Amino acid sequence: MADAQTATQAPNVTRREDYNEPDWRVPEIALDLDLDPAATRVRTTLWVERGGVHDRPLRLDGDGLTALSVKVDGAETMDWHMDGPNLVVPLSGSAHTIETEVEIAPERNTQLQGLYASSGMLCTQCEAEGFRRITFFPDRPDVLSRYKVKLTADKTRFPVLLANGDPIAQGELDGGKHWAEWHDPFLKPSYLFALVAGDLVANRGTFTTMSGREVQLGIWVRAPDLAKTDHALHALKLSMAWDEKVYGREYDLDVFNIVAVDDFNFGAMENKGLNVFNSRYILADPDTATDYDYDAIAAVVAHEYFHNWSGNRVTCRDWFQLSLKEGFTVFRDQSFSADQGSAAVKRIEDVRGLRASQFPEDAGPLAHPVRPDEYIEISNFYTATIYNKGAEVIRMMATILGPEKFRAATDLYFDRFDGTAATCEDFVQCMEQAGGVDLTQFRRWYSQAGTPRVSATLAQEGGRARLSLRQLVPPTPGQPVKEPMVLPLKLKLFGGFTGRPMCDEQLILLKEDAQELLFENLSETPVLSINRGFSAPIVVETNRTAKDLAFLSAHDDDPFARYEAMQQLMLDTLVTSVTNGGTDHAAVIEAVRNTLTDSALDRAFVAEAVLLPSDSFIGDQMAVVEPEAIFRAREALRADLGKALEAEWRAAYEGSLANRFEYSPSAKGARRLKTVSLGYIAASGAADADQLAFDQFSLADNMTDRQGGLTTLVNGASPLREEALEAFYQRYQGNGLVLDKWFQAQALSTREDTAEMVERLVAHRDFTLSNPNRARSLIGAFSVNQRAFHDVSGRGYRFVADQLIALDKLNPQTAAKLIPPLGRWKRFDEARAAKMRAELERIVATPGLSKDMFEQASKSLD
Ligand code: PHE
Ligand code: ZN
Repeated sequence: MADAQTATQAPNVTRREDYNEPDWRVPEIALDLDLDPAATRVRTTLWVERGGVHDRPLRLDGDGLTALSVKVDGAETMDWHMDGPNLVVPLSGSAHTIETEVEIAPERNTQLQGLYASSGMLCTQCEAEGFRRITFFPDRPDVLSRYKVKLTADKTRFPVLLANGDPIAQGELDGGKHWAEWHDPFLKPSYLFALVAGDLVANRGTFTTMSGREVQLGIWVRAPDLAKTDHALHALKLSMAWDEKVYGREYDLDVFNIVAVDDFNFGAMENKGLNVFNSRYILADPDTATDYDYDAIAAVVAHEYFHNWSGNRVTCRDWFQLSLKEGFTVFRDQSFSADQGSAAVKRIEDVRGLRASQFPEDAGPLAHPVRPDEYIEISNFYTATIYNKGAEVIRMMATILGPEKFRAATDLYFDRFDGTAATCEDFVQCMEQAGGVDLTQFRRWYSQAGTPRVSATLAQEGGRARLSLRQLVPPTPGQPVKEPMVLPLKLKLFGGFTGRPMCDEQLILLKEDAQELLFENLSETPVLSINRGFSAPIVVETNRTAKDLAFLSAHDDDPFARYEAMQQLMLDTLVTSVTNGGTDHAAVIEAVRNTLTDSALDRAFVAEAVLLPSDSFIGDQMAVVEPEAIFRAREALRADLGKALEAEWRAAYEGSLANRFEYSPSAKGARRLKTVSLGYIAASGAADADQLAFDQFSLADNMTDRQGGLTTLVNGASPLREEALEAFYQRYQGNGLVLDKWFQAQALSTREDTAEMVERLVAHRDFTLSNPNRARSLIGAFSVNQRAFHDVSGRGYRFVADQLIALDKLNPQTAAKLIPPLGRWKRFDEARAAKMRAELERIVATPGLSKDMFEQASKSLD
């Protein structure tokens, strides 16, 4: 029986409260790698020191390694043993030299953790626990070492040899080989180790730091991709300057290299001085990358660069502290991006992302605190909660402290913990000390999971108004009862008649279960603007009418609040349609008309504001998600908006026809509004809509417009649909990143036959599960297509489960990340829920399942 099988091999749980300091420290390490895809020799020397008074042996983590030789203080020894995958060496003194030798086969490494091959190059990925797949080592982030690395390889296949730190020496060997030596002067944990060997070229640049040191920058790619690296290099220079200006943080090595690789489980990795990137976050030119891609590249380049301080110089004591580096670094990259263009639009995008991925996570079976208490497989905790909710937690502290004190607090944090492995608690203490605030209760943001809900009721009594606030933190797995949180709420009142602000913006801290606020001397009926700028990552329910929301969507002076009012109006309308079949769209139509025709507004903002909430977000508002009814209600509203405002959409479309491609905030905004308008023109059923989309597709001089035309056609039934898909495929055959868009567009199609088409695409000659981007572009995209994935037949569930079982055999980390859509079964009707559960049960019962998948799938059944 499946249960018996999994019970006997139930994987170990690691608990935060079990933390102990390392038994042995490793102040220095020398690595000597003879690189070969089939057989790489790794010779490692560790200088180890006993930590404290104990008589425990040296335990070195290993994963799939066989020790070919072990030496202690220069002499070969037989006095060692294996404990499972780990190497145990008894030692008598307080300091020793340990030498080990292993052989690994990077070309057979399909997990893409440790040393692996990708498109002819060799590269590493060590976070979180990949270093133990390369050599025996105490592979935990609080063991900090100075690294010396020697790389030897065939010179023709691997002319470029890179590692962390600075290049020290290089030379030639007999037999066509060469070598290079790199030293990293900074202490670092093993997860930040990296090497790359390949036939690569660099886009080079320099950056002069604030103290006048010149840093050599290099973006390394295969020769044909060199022309697509200028944007990333530019973003890197902007990031370096920004971190000096905003946080006073200077770069610390003489070189900073970035390498783009095609096969990568995540976005990118911040290895010291040698960032390794998924090529989708480096390569861009107007013909192949969308505006979204350009923005994402700048954000990820910034993110990884910022880790040099928030992550590398100050690292994490243990993996429960992951948000210490990730939440803070996401907050830093979000602020950077906000400074490059429209801060309001950036905030809207970030909140939309939070609601699309983190809110559902917090409301489902995989909910966990920003600082988790336990895990089976740490790779499963690189989540929207750790990253994006973690960033919101930092943002709230920044809001509470204000900019000057927040900067003083981060200065204190970097100074105090430089060169060490720190905790979330250390960070909060710096905020308290430099900020002069007590964050005792605020710390619940680290320990309690779940999205707080606030109800805000404004009641007028003559010239006074009473605002009643109540908060509720819902139960989550393992946390049935919650304490009230500290919620920083920015709010303001507007006169519903004159539209004038009735007070300055206030920041209030809601700390109790319930709190009341009184406003006096009001000359007209007030309208409440609350959680402005999304000052707290919560759900707010108010007693505002459709009229209030329409008013705010046109008059609020906080752009985020304006967007939010429109979204709420749309949501209320859609939820009413789904539940009572209501079709009164007049209020939404008028509000959209006002925004669309307000020439004072930024085009990018308009494009965001007039977009309807997604199918899934509508579903999140309902007790039981009804995918078909949601789809129909949303399409009906889209059609009505399209028809009622057809002239306005056409005007916006025409007005947004940029002449030639330019990457600027205003040109991006125009392109965005253009495709959003195209979507509404198509929804109106206008006779020329398909041709309009096809013309946009074929005449485009950039990928944003081309993709906009394509996705509009892909959702429809025109014969031009096939023609466009075929033309796109022919044009970009051989360009993996663009083919991902081709697969993704079809997987996200709102057509009724999407499930069938996606099943067919798996057999396409360009489809493969072994490339994570490709797997995500089809399987990942399909599973977030609410209508198609939740087809009543259950075929979508079966299909995804089949693919994940197959993917798990190759790449458990990437497979496990795709489990959450199946885990949302509780939100659906009984028939769907039963089918989803059955697929999860089938996954859990699969022989040889990885612990990554076991953890995600079994927790999702609870
Ligand atoms: N630390 C990386 C980042 O967020 C993410 C990552 C995690 C990459 C694990 C690879 C493996 O910047
Ligand atoms: Zn990160």
